[in-house]
Amino acid sequence: MPRVVFRRQELFEAKLCLGSSEIPLADYATTGLRIVAVGPSGIGKTNAGLLIAEQLAAQGWVCVMVDPEGEIEALYGAAVSSPAALRSALVSRDERFLVVSARDAAEFLPYGQQIFEVADDVRRPVFLMIDEGQVFSTSRKRKKELGAASDLLNDFALRGRKRALDLFITATRFSGSLNRAVFGSKNLTLIGCQEDFSAWSALSAQFRGTGIGYNELASLAPGEFFCRSRRGVEKVVMPMAKALAAVAPKARRTRAALPGSFSQWDRAMREISTERLRALTPPIVALLGSVAGLSNQQLASGGRALQDELEARL
Ligand SMILES: Nc1ncnc2c1ncn2[C@@H]1O[C@H](COP(=O)(O)OP(=O)(O)OP(=O)(O)O)[C@@H](O)[C@H]1O
Ligand SMILES: [Mg+2]
Repeated sequence: MPRVVFRRQELFEAKLCLGSSEIPLADYATTGLRIVAVGPSGIGKTNAGLLIAEQLAAQGWVCVMVDPEGEIEALYGAAVSSPAALRSALVSRDERFLVVSARDAAEFLPYGQQIFEVADDVRRPVFLMIDEGQVFSTSRKRKKELGAASDLLNDFALRGRKRALDLFITATRFSGSLNRAVFGSKNLTLIGCQEDFSAWSALSAQFRGTGIGYNELASLAPGEFFCRSRRGVEKVVMPMAKALAAVAPKARRTRAALPGSFSQWDRAMREISTERLRALTPPIVALLGSVAGLSNQQLASGGRALQDELEARL
């Protein structure tokens, strides 16, 4: 008789520490975890997955990390040598991190099938991290391996709960990337900096009723996300995963040169008299800018904004 998962005790006891905020996984005890991290290149999606994997590994999960770029292998040791080797490592549970090197859907499929089969037989906590989700899941119907891999990921998302399998997947955009079934079943979303306004139109529904707008999203730094969990939406500032922190630099935080939104700008400007604005001559602006550590680009855009403001007051 197959083991049946009615109660995931490990979820009642575990938690995720996403830097500035802590998520008790008891919130997910009856649903399992399906995390999607969205954002363009370099905003810290892979780091977020690794951070969560490290935390879950320490709390009893075996983490399978699917690595299309060779990044994860460089951090956590050689990838498993074959689907059969992955299977036996998942059964023995001796190792906490199992890296699967798969550059495309065809390479992933035999591993993915083993993961599903073992999860079905064993039903003990597994965290499956799929980096570069768009390599394995597709929004449009596809034939051959990509279609099959995409269906398999949907299976993980829709049927993982009963197999004690938790999922993390990254996507570059909220529309036209992963299969809708993945987005439709996610229950923890990490949304990183998005400067592309056309991407915002697809994302805005995630922020309805929160007061968070495009400007707030566009001003997130790498490692900062809006986290939508059972508890609502909050901003999280993530630490780096241990393995990545050992080799990669911490992203530098650049301060925005201008207030984040027009209403803030308007309010800030109203408080400054025209006389004082006129006193901001180019040498003074340059001096203040260098004290504040602004880039030339930031100085130039600030200078233009000042000019516009003065002209508007004439
Ligand atoms: N939480 C963080 N705090 C500070 N720096 C970070 C953080 N996360 C990532 N970084 C820095 O940003 C770099 C890029 O992060 P990461 O590889 O996770 O981005 P990504 O979103 O996965 O990008 P891609 O889509 O290109 O794979 C890291 O190598 C690291 O230097
Ligand atoms: Mg990445």
